[in-house]
Amino acid sequence: MSANTYYGDYLRLTQLLSAQHPRSAELGRPAHEETLFIITHQVYELWFKQILHEIDSVLLTLQQDFVKDTELNIVVGRLERVIEIEKLLIQQIDIMETMTPLDFLEFRDLLVPASGFQSFQFRMIENKLGLPANKRLTYHQSHYTQSLSAEHREMIAASENNPSLFNIIERWLERTPFLKFGDFDFWRDYSDAVKRMFAADRERIQQHPALSPQDIEQRLRQLENTESTFTTLFDPEAYASSQAEGKRRLSYQATQAALLILLYRERPILQMPYRLLTSLMTIDEQLTNWRYRHALMVQHMIGTKQGTGGSTGSEYLLRTLDAHRIFHDLIQLTTFLIPRSSLPELPPEIDLQLGFAYQGSQA
Ligand code: HEM
Repeated sequence: MSANTYYGDYLRLTQLLSAQHPRSAELGRPAHEETLFIITHQVYELWFKQILHEIDSVLLTLQQDFVKDTELNIVVGRLERVIEIEKLLIQQIDIMETMTPLDFLEFRDLLVPASGFQSFQFRMIENKLGLPANKRLTYHQSHYTQSLSAEHREMIAASENNPSLFNIIERWLERTPFLKFGDFDFWRDYSDAVKRMFAADRERIQQHPALSPQDIEQRLRQLENTESTFTTLFDPEAYASSQAEGKRRLSYQATQAALLILLYRERPILQMPYRLLTSLMTIDEQLTNWRYRHALMVQHMIGTKQGTGGSTGSEYLLRTLDAHRIFHDLIQLTTFLIPRSSLPELPPEIDLQLGFAYQGSQA
């Protein structure tokens, strides 16, 4: 800090610390806990701002046609920072819950119709990560931005229309150069390996000395079920129908690339892409953890009452857990992982390309 910079000025503490105005005090019936309620929400909004700052920078970098390894390292670092912030956001609920439901009733009525439902930054985070508008739950058949100011509605519309992290990652995955490389055709070799793996599993079950004929029949049926899940993956038409039914969102090409990265994650050149995919899945999981924790707090605070924003309260919030997942497609891919021992061997020249030597040969 230079000699002219004063701590309180630099941090705009005068503005920050004078931004708490409990409604209960303004109306002459001060409720002690309202300050905690305000400060907790304000701290959340500050962290939301930081999360948006990170996501915006990640979007900017990944939007380029070519993303350098060094840039990818920075992107992963920033996404991992978002995860740490999310963990903190979940912990903050413990502090909020030191306020009892009775304490809350002292000022709750004064909040109507305001609600966290109107947090425009939270909506921007959801949109920039890639929650599509048509997947959103509605209540009273109204649009999720209906109760927001015109300025906030405009900002949210822009975040809805611009490419999201989901879209950008999909395009980045589609550009993965290693799906077909010389003689190596990942999808062909991987589907052959899966067929070999199931054939070996079938033989093992059929010849198992400790299994009765009924056990064998039951296990073979289970194996067939698992195998049919793989069949939808290898059949582009079945894949397209599951997309049309809304069961899958990620494009076929991007799904193949993501699987390649997850399966060959130990190869040096795939380490960062692997960490990138993992961090997206974790961001989604932590957001879901927050949603769950918040919904439990709401149950604890208001029981089954309506929310101040007019929703069915915890009932609505619990439904968002599944409906508002963003990177569900990536998480589901673990179904298609196969043991390392069954993975197709990479031809030596491809192995070399996926090692650190790749960069050297580019120079
Ligand atoms: C006493 C504490 C709290 C209660 C009782 C509560 C209650 C609710 C309720 C009932 C809703 C559903 C919308 C409605 O009808 O109002 C909601 C939504 C929401 N609240 Fe809270 N809340 C509390 C604390 C917080 C805090 C500290 C935050 C942090 C910013 C927050 C952020 C949100 C967000 C972002 C939504 C929208 C969720 C979505 O639509 O998926 N809430 N809250």
